[in-house]
Amino acid sequence: MSYRNDEVVEKIKDTVDIVDFISSYLKLDKSGANYVGLCPFHSEKTPSFTVSENKKIFHCFGCGVGGDVLEFAMKKENLSFPEAINFLGDRYGIEVKKQSPEDIKRQEQRNKSYEINREAAKFFLNNLLENKSALKYLNDRGINNKVIRNFGLGYALDGWEYLHEFLIGKGYKSQELEELGLVGERSNGNGFYDKFRNRIIFPIIDTRSRVIGFGGRVLDDSMPKYLNSQETLVFNKGTHLYGLNNLAKSSDREKLILVEGYMDVISLYNNEIDFSVASLGTALTPSQVKLLKRYGEEIYICYDSDLAGIKATDKAISLFLDEDVTPKVIMLGEYKDPDDFFEKNEKEDFEQLIKNALHFIDYKIHINKEKYNLEDIEDKIKFTIDISKDLRLLKNPIEIDVYINKLSKELNISKEAIEKEVFNKDEKNYKKKQTRKKTKPNNHRNINYNMNTVLPKSDIRAEVELLRMMILDRKYYEVIDAQNIFKDFKNHTCKEILRIVEDIYFDEDYIEEERIRRIIANKDNIDFRVTELILDREINFESENIEKMLNDLIRTIRVNKLISERKQVRDMIKKLDESQESMDPNAFSELFKKLTSLNGKLENIRYEDRG
Ligand code: UTP
Ligand code: MN
Repeated sequence: MSYRNDEVVEKIKDTVDIVDFISSYLKLDKSGANYVGLCPFHSEKTPSFTVSENKKIFHCFGCGVGGDVLEFAMKKENLSFPEAINFLGDRYGIEVKKQSPEDIKRQEQRNKSYEINREAAKFFLNNLLENKSALKYLNDRGINNKVIRNFGLGYALDGWEYLHEFLIGKGYKSQELEELGLVGERSNGNGFYDKFRNRIIFPIIDTRSRVIGFGGRVLDDSMPKYLNSQETLVFNKGTHLYGLNNLAKSSDREKLILVEGYMDVISLYNNEIDFSVASLGTALTPSQVKLLKRYGEEIYICYDSDLAGIKATDKAISLFLDEDVTPKVIMLGEYKDPDDFFEKNEKEDFEQLIKNALHFIDYKIHINKEKYNLEDIEDKIKFTIDISKDLRLLKNPIEIDVYINKLSKELNISKEAIEKEVFNKDEKNYKKKQTRKKTKPNNHRNINYNMNTVLPKSDIRAEVELLRMMILDRKYYEVIDAQNIFKDFKNHTCKEILRIVEDIYFDEDYIEEERIRRIIANKDNIDFRVTELILDREINFESENIEKMLNDLIRTIRVNKLISERKQVRDMIKKLDESQESMDPNAFSELFKKLTSLNGKLENIRYEDRG
């Protein structure tokens, strides 16, 4: 993963001492809060060139040039922007990933995507303001115009090509719109259609006010209720939160409420509670937890009160604990979700719910009292073991003590017994961690593994192996990432672990296997044999062989992908062939074309291999 440009830019601006840097080109003298000198960009006798150390900028009152440290370097050394980044990075020992031509191209593509999304959002908004029934829908739900504007809500017209036509008119290409999930290609290959039709539109806006995607809700009971943009170059569902852009503007970052739906965020805002966010139609991710942590001191979970919501709350709690956040849980009682709550209640009532929010341990006790029959001795033991796991995650020993006391009273179990459950296990875990620490990245470990016995399929094996490499060392992760094969991973468990790995490497350089184990424990349908293969075995390779080994694994993934695509195409041909109805001859020839192309690709890979 190449570092995002803006991150590097911030880092450079933060790290480089602008006075020090400019001093290497001209003499600067302190004058009040600033420094002054003779302008290097025009000739002058008295100094009008000023540098502000605090603001990290320069300005010449004589010729008007000015900017930050990067702009100075660009001007003085005659560099492009990326070159200036490298130049300063080198000079001050700041690690900057070189911007390859591909990186630059991607950046440009991104900017264009933001631009297109913004145009689409404006189009949707204008449609809404002119459409009585869509406006009525929102007004009936109590949403006023101020809120509509604040969230940039919109309406996708009830037709097949309104947006497509509008954006084509603006000079964009169908292909570009398709990549953003705004339009789809017609199955007959004859043009494109709007993906969002007759839906209320919720633009998803990042903290830098860029439109990255859309959610769209039907106006009636039809299905699917919500449609969301697919993941695109600029839309990664797991790393954004709906509503965070509004929050970034508000000054109060004390409390932050995590809710399930777009409408919950909006409804809360509509009732002057302007510090809630929602994940984007997917389960909460570690990256989102990190974001929440950055934006709020106290985190409240307020998911729907149904069974799915309770389950999701449980998972969210573990994710928060993984990130050392101790969340509280807002209980909605008889109401389904916050939006539902406001149908009969007001701001003050919700504020009371916030006040009454439960510490997550209390919440668990509350929930488990319903789940387990605590009169039953076995259930009581199960519950104690369960909750001890959570207690172990608390950082503060006093807090742990308080809750052990509380549990002991509630469950009528001796304090000592609970302590034993909590701390004995803890010691074991602690030891395990210590030994793991010692086995940090080290390419010459003596290692043994025999996977053949457990996993038969070569493609799963390749995925497992690649993950092992990635977890071992971030640099392998980057090498593999650059090959653009992550999307071709097939095994569910591998995909989940890959996601976790990506999340962690997003802002950390080292992965502790224990952490993956903890996170994966909360996911559904995990094959723990696969997890253990990825995490448990030591790795055996000589560093000279790594490149070849990586290439082989990557190739395996590519080949398998092509083979499975080819199988699909063959199956389709067979099906068409067997079907009785008279069919489109074009369909046949299309499929054969595809088959030929796939065969060609496979042939090429094999050829490369020989070469
Ligand atoms: P809910 O079904 O709880 O919707 O889904 P809601 O927020 O209460 O919406 P209203 O009040 O009926 O309008 C919660 C979230 O799950 C995602 C959306 O992000 C939604 O906001 N979701 C739900 C989907 O992505 N697709 C769906 O079909 C349904
Ligand atoms: Mn709702």
